[in-house]
This record gives sequence, structure tokens and C-alpha cells, in this order.
Amino acid sequence: MNPLERHDIPGSVTAVSAKGGLPALRVETPDCSALVYQHGAHVALWGPREGPPVLFMSEASDFSPDKPIRGGVPLIFPWFGPRDGAPGHGTARITAWDLTESLLLPGGDVRLRFTLPEHGDSTSVVFVVTLGATLRMELIVSNTGGSPFTFENCLHTYFQIADIHQTEVRGLRGVSYTDQLLSLTRIEEHGAIRFTAETDRVYQNTTATTEIADPVLGRLIRVRKSGSLSTVVWNPWIDKAARMPDFGDDEYLRMLCVESGNIREHAITLAPGESSTLEVEISVSPNPGS
Ligand code: BG6
Repeated sequence: MNPLERHDIPGSVTAVSAKGGLPALRVETPDCSALVYQHGAHVALWGPREGPPVLFMSEASDFSPDKPIRGGVPLIFPWFGPRDGAPGHGTARITAWDLTESLLLPGGDVRLRFTLPEHGDSTSVVFVVTLGATLRMELIVSNTGGSPFTFENCLHTYFQIADIHQTEVRGLRGVSYTDQLLSLTRIEEHGAIRFTAETDRVYQNTTATTEIADPVLGRLIRVRKSGSLSTVVWNPWIDKAARMPDFGDDEYLRMLCVESGNIREHAITLAPGESSTLEVEISVSPNPGS
């Protein structure tokens, strides 16, 4: 029996065995269709019931208990990036979370609540996702132990776009970033970001809402965040795409990551009893400029 079945809500939430046989919830609301895996508490699909998906999912992704899913919204915790002898981008995205609640809200939105099992006594990690006309996600970390706890976090959202060459990211003008490919300290962003090569940038000290303008699909994707001082913009481009086994060679053309979190100098330290919430809300509207 699918362990998620007891959280079914007729007409809105259905437990399914999804790719790789992994348990997941299919969600249908008046405004959206979505698929959320228990593995990683991973929102794999979300978007309006009609039209192209908003989140990108790689055709070559693994769907396996010990591997991350390449697309959707990987939850990055408790560290960002590679770490010697430990899984890249932390353990949360390769852990089966406990689904503790599914709720039908007035108006038809669906709310799912997951907890991360392994942080038992000293930390509680909760992920709450509300699926409707917008996708609202909250990652809540509480220090329930007796000593300070330091971590990084990030909602590593993959967005589907029609053509990377025609896509623009707005909202980071005047913000300084570290170019992870050059290891340069700080470069200031001068305007909208356009893409002509591999891009891997950590923008720091920014709480800004970002917009992804896609003139081909004629839409604007808006990423509003709170409890986050870092924004990462990533596209692997040709060579890195070819090196990634779980990513199609041409898929860099149709995806873009705009990630919200707290990394490096903005790692969070919680004193005993403290908690922090990282919240990201994604919405889509017609692009008036297209
Ligand atoms: C981004 C990083 O957040 O994630 C990149 O800035 C990295 O450097 C990318 O390549 C993908 O990471 P992973 O571990 O999912 O392959």
C-alpha cells in the first residue's frame, strides 16, 4: 500500500506511485495541477491546469531513493554546494520526508506539510507547500536542542522557459554577486540578466523579488521571497549539460534556475529555541512586453 494514501482528499489529492516507483501526491485544484514526491518533499510539477508547465523537469532525471531529482524544487539543507565525503547540496533532497498533513483550504487550494525525519532531537525541519494559483513554499527550521545550530538553505527552483537566449531575469540590478565560475569576489549587476554562456552566480544581500521574462511563451514568472538574503542564478549551458548524466544535452535551452536561500556568509545560526522561515512564492502572469 502507498504510505501516502491516508492523506488522500477525494477530487484534490491522490497518492500515486510515480516515476521510479517513488510515492508521490498528485494534486488538482481549481487553479493548478501538481505532483509532489515524498522523496525530498519535492515539488516536481506545478502550474496552471492549462498551458505549458512552469517548473522544468529533466527528461533524464533520476527517480531513485539515493539520488536527487533534476528539476522542480529541490530543497537544499543543511548545506549548499559540494562537501567532501557528503552529498552535494545537503541531505534533505535525498531523504524521504514524513507527510504529516494534507489540507483542502477554503477556495480550493491544497496545503501539504512535511517534516524531515532525521533531525530528531536537536532540530525540527518542516516544509509547508500551498498549491493553487500561486506556489507558496515555507521551509521552517527550529533549534530544539541545547546548543547553537548553523546551516544553509535554498529552494533550488528550476523554471521552464522556451528559449534561454531570449529570456531575461529582472530585479537584481545594483546587487553584487560572486561568479562561481571565476571565483571572483564581487561584481555588481548592472541591469537585467541575459544568457550567452554558462552562468552560476550567487547574489548576496538581496531580498528582491525577481522576474523571469519569457517573450516566447508570453509570460512573466515572479519569484517573491522572504527570510532569504541570497539568490542564485544558474544555467549549465553546453559543456556542463553534456557532463551531467541526469540532464539532457539540449535541455539547457529550456530551463533556468533562480534559487532563493541563505548561503555562505548568510548561513543562519539559530540559538536554542529559535526558528527561521524561508518563504518563496511563485506566480505567473502574461508578459506585457511580449
Ligand atoms: C547550483 C549551483 O545551485 O546548483 C551550481 O550554483 C550547481 O554550481 C547546480 O552546478 C546543480 O547542482 P547539483 O548538485 O544539483 O548538480
